[in-house]
Amino acid sequence: MKRIEAIIRPSKLEDVRRLLSHPWISAMTVSEVRGAGRQKGHAELYRGAEYVIDLIPKLKLEIVLPDPLVDRVVADLESWLRTGRIGDGKIFVEPLDDAVRVRTGERGEDAL
Ligand SMILES: Nc1ncnc2c1ncn2[C@@H]1O[C@H](COP(=O)(O)OP(=O)(O)OP(=O)(O)O)[C@@H](O)[C@H]1O
Ligand SMILES: [Mg+2]
Repeated sequence: MKRIEAIIRPSKLEDVRRLLSHPWISAMTVSEVRGAGRQKGHAELYRGAEYVIDLIPKLKLEIVLPDPLVDRVVADLESWLRTGRIGDGKIFVEPLDDAVRVRTGERGEDAL
């Protein structure tokens, strides 16, 4: 299993929501976060107005997937998120040891 964490522009939420329509994506978590990348929050536009503070509103998307699905999901995310402008976001992929579906006690990929 892998855990995909993507920091995305809030305006891209509707695009990534499409992932849930894939039959093999069972769940995701979305959080409101603030962040800065290489530009340290400067020189980035947010809803057309220059954002004066250093931490820019972003969304954090988390999805845990079986290994064989990871490349496809990362490729989909890349193509949906890329505008070519600074601040397009970042995708992190981490190994994940285990998962538990609390209601049933299922473990590992069965719990996804
Ligand atoms: N190395 C990192 N560690 C943790 N969070 C990061 C890291 N890089 C980016 N982020 C998060 O992702 C958000 C978007 O990053 P961003 O797209 O600006 O990356 P970047 O490296 O500055 O690339 P670009 O030059 O294209 O803007 C940041 O606001 C921050 O929340
Ligand atoms: Mg940046």
